[in-house]
Amino acid sequence: MNNVYLDRINNNINALYQDEAVSPHLAESIRYSLQAGGKRIRPLLLMTTIESLGGNPELGMPFGLALEMIHTYSLIHDDLPAMDNDDYRRGKLTNHKVFGEATAILAGDALLTDSFQLILKSDYTDVIKIKLMSLLTKAAGSHGMVAGQMLDMASENKKITLEQLETIHHHKTGDLIHAAIYAAGIIVSVEENTLTLLDNIGRNIGLMFQIKDDILDVEGEFEKIGKAVGSDIQNDKSTYVSLLGLEASKQKLETIYNDTIELIERVAINKAPFNELLQFIVHRDK
Ligand code: IPE
Ligand code: IPE
Ligand code: MG
Ligand code: MG
Ligand code: MG
Repeated sequence: MNNVYLDRINNNINALYQDEAVSPHLAESIRYSLQAGGKRIRPLLLMTTIESLGGNPELGMPFGLALEMIHTYSLIHDDLPAMDNDDYRRGKLTNHKVFGEATAILAGDALLTDSFQLILKSDYTDVIKIKLMSLLTKAAGSHGMVAGQMLDMASENKKITLEQLETIHHHKTGDLIHAAIYAAGIIVSVEENTLTLLDNIGRNIGLMFQIKDDILDVEGEFEKIGKAVGSDIQNDKSTYVSLLGLEASKQKLETIYNDTIELIERVAINKAPFNELLQFIVHRDK
């Protein structure tokens, strides 16, 4: 993983919610989840994609932070008793276990809304801000992540088709990952055909990321993934592993990986960092 960017990202995340808060309790709950760690894959993907396109990775920081805020909100809500009902996240007790459900819900609401403010206050030009806000709101809302979460909940205790599962994965996880990669094209102002390639790369990596997450739910270790192993089985979720089995899920991952490497060859000026991050996504144990 590209640790050069990781430290910068973490420093910037740790600087959020440090000013005087209207509700110190709310700010404490937000900081608890934001600073709990996490792989920061979305900002890393964004900065690495910018680098591979020949741009300045630092330009990805505001949008990367906004993505990480929305992602963290989605995890706080995903863990609630009404949703996946999980007790551990990023190696610590889940937000609602420490602060209670009401505060956890509000922490999520605040992170989502504040992410828009962060983009609006950034140094991006107005044209780029509008493009990024449009991308982000579509990826996060009822056409994106939230819709995926709804379909995921509705598929508990049911047998669904692989096509339906793919739709769930594309939305609940894929859309925010796709936004990270596609945003790089917007920030660097690449041509239309490069944007189309980034669109396909983003969709592939989004799907790969959730297939791997499903695999880790079965064969991961609590000490590494920082969340309960077997949560999907407990909730009778539809996952790649429950539909295809472990081996076929790994093969599917490998196939998409190979397709994606070919696409990256066509788009990247400097492909080594991008390929390295993709290797991490496929082979990660956390
Ligand atoms: C976990 O995301 C939930 C999914 C969307 C698959 P990550 O694996 O990126 O979680 P953190 O941010 O590293 O904790
Ligand atoms: C969660 O998928 C996706 C979002 C939070 C949007 P999961 O429910 O599989 O994520 P984990 O395994 O709890 O991290
Ligand atoms: Mg879930
Ligand atoms: Mg979950
Ligand atoms: Mg999971």
